[in-house]
Formats: sequence, C-alpha cells, structure tokens
Amino acid sequence: MHKICVIEGDGIGKEVVPAAVEVLKATGVEFEFNHALAGDEVFEKTGVALPEETIAAAKAADAILFGAAGETAADVIVKLRKILDTYANIRPVKSYNGINCLKTGIDYIIVRENTEGLYKGIEAEIADGVTVATRVITKDASERIFKHAFEMAKDRKKQGTAGKVTCAHKANVLKITDGLFKKTFYEVSNDYKDIQTEDFYVDAMNMFIISRPETFDIVVTSNLFGDILSDGAVGMVGGLGMAPSGNVGDKYGLFEPIHGSAPDIAGKGLANPTATILTAVMMLRYLKENEAAEKVEKALEEVLSLGLTTPDLGGTLSTSEMGQEVAKRV
Ligand code: NAI
Ligand code: MG
Repeated sequence: MHKICVIEGDGIGKEVVPAAVEVLKATGVEFEFNHALAGDEVFEKTGVALPEETIAAAKAADAILFGAAGETAADVIVKLRKILDTYANIRPVKSYNGINCLKTGIDYIIVRENTEGLYKGIEAEIADGVTVATRVITKDASERIFKHAFEMAKDRKKQGTAGKVTCAHKANVLKITDGLFKKTFYEVSNDYKDIQTEDFYVDAMNMFIISRPETFDIVVTSNLFGDILSDGAVGMVGGLGMAPSGNVGDKYGLFEPIHGSAPDIAGKGLANPTATILTAVMMLRYLKENEAAEKVEKALEEVLSLGLTTPDLGGTLSTSEMGQEVAKRV
C-alpha cells in the first residue's frame, strides 16, 4: 500500500491530475490517495498558498503527485521543493510514436542539481550600475547529484539501456566552480566501473541534444545549465503537454508535469493529460512498481499512436476521455 499525497492545485491541475489518478487506480497497485490543497484558490480563501496541513500531508506520504499552481507557483511548488530538500530534478526526454517530434529514437533523462549553482539566490548591486550573482558549487551537493545520476544509470542499464552518464559543464571558463564539478564527477564515477562516462562543455551539449539526442542515457548538470538544456530537450519531443518531471531527495519524491495551470484552456477539457500520466509513471518507478509503470507507459504509447488524444495533439478527445482510453488499456 502506497500513500500518495495528491495536490491538484489550480486551473488544468484539476483536470489532468484526476485523469492520471484514474490511470493509477487501473494498475491494480494498492494506493491510498490523500488530497491536499495548495495554490491560488486556497490563497484567495485563506491568505495562505501552501497550508501547513498540506506540508504535513506531503511529509506523511510515500510520494506526492502535484498538478499546477497559478500565480502562487513560487510560494507553492518552489517552496515545497525546498522544504522537502528534493535536490535532484529529473526530466525524462523521450520521443513517442504519433507525436510530432523533431527526431525519433530519443530516450534519455536529464538530472539537474536543484539547490545551488547560479540559482542559489545570492545577488547584489555592489556599486551604482554594477550587479553580481554568486555561483555556488559545493563538493557535497555535487557528489550527491552525481551519485543519484549513476544510481539511475545503473537501474536503467538493468532495463537494457547503454548505461552511460554524460556530464555537462563549462570547466574551461569556470575553472574553479566547474573545475570542482567535473573533478567530482570523475571521482564519483570510480564507484561505478560498469557505467560509461563522458563530459562535454554545456554549449556543445546544447548542440548535441539537438543533433544526436539518441546517443544519451543520463545527462547530469548544474542548476542553470539544467534549466536551459531541459526546456530545449523537451521542445524536441512535443513540448509542454508531453513533459513530466520529478523532484527527488533522500526522503521525499515530488512528481509534477512541467506545465503550469494554463488559464487559457482551463475548465474546458482541452488539457493534454499525457505529461501528468507520464509523471505518474515516474512516480510508479520511484515506488519500485516497475511492472505497473511499464503497463501504463505501453497503454499510453498505444493511445498516442492511435491518435486518441486531446486537440493539441490533433485528436478530438477531452482530458478525461483520453485518460479513460489509457486506463482502459492498463
Ligand atoms: P503554462 O504551462 O500554464 O501554459 C503555457 C501554454 O501551454 C498555454 O498556452 C497553455 O494552454 C499550454 N499548455 C500547458 N499545458 C498544457 C497541456 N497539458 N495541454 C495543452 N496545452 C497546455 O504556462 P504559463 O501560461 O506561462 O503560466 C500560467 C500560470 O501557470 C501562471 O500563473 C504561472 O505562474 C503558472 N505556472 C505554474 C507552474 C507550476 O505550478 N509548476 C509552472 C509554470 C507556470
Ligand atoms: Mg525552467
């Protein structure tokens, strides 16, 4: 029995999350779903966007499934990631048949350090018209993100992937910070002799995720570089409606589609549930329910290839109808 904290949030979160929960129920895996509130709506009612009860519910769960927040996103999801110390941001990049991808045969995962780098939040105006931001790279945070990446590569190798970790950095220019990052990468790799390693400068990496994305398995990088690379990467495979993500730490796993509350289409049944269903697949793998994860992904692949989709992918189904087509096949 897995305890899942379900936070639908705002806008299309209220449509795509129920569709994914239907699919999870169809797997036959035993879940206890605890619904909790967060986002604009609860903020308008109570003045708090992320209530204490929600934080407690998230901490009490085995995993958290999050939809989207609206204008309060920074106070909800960014805060929740901090509170739960989910230091690894996991972004799968995969091309599915029937989806308008820029290339086929893409199946890799970007692992982004989620707590430091240039997003540490240390900025200042040091003189009139002169501003600085401090880029923090520590050995500890680098070590734990690399270990996480290598463990993922090990797990994936068992499912038949190449077993390779690619590190993206800019150690030629950022000699001290990314010097440490790169050095630590190869130190950690010593404990994973059966996993191949390679490293590239992030600018070249940006070209490779477009020119030869099919050659990657796990890509690991620092915070800002990961932010930029991963949006470009999912742009290759169908964009926002297709892109899941996970935030994982030593204690908690928080899973969310990368899109927001999409107020322009909310409440109309137009939202594509694929990103959230793929998010549920990631959550199943995190919970070691690999067989169920496989089943859901297969069912979704079939639905996509048959064109049984929402209008953004060219189909005529509503959010819940598409979810039902997947659930039925699971
Ligand atoms: P957005 O991701 O909500 O929407 C961008 C565009 O993509 C819209 O045209 C939308 O209709 C479309 N879209 C997004 N998801 C879709 C789906 N599943 N199916 C079909 N079309 C989809 O980003 P936007 O418009 O920049 O922000 C809207 C609100 O969402 C803002 O209040 C923002 O703060 C919040 N937001 C929350 C996030 C979170 O909770 N993690 C992340 C990004 C934005
Ligand atoms: Mg981003």
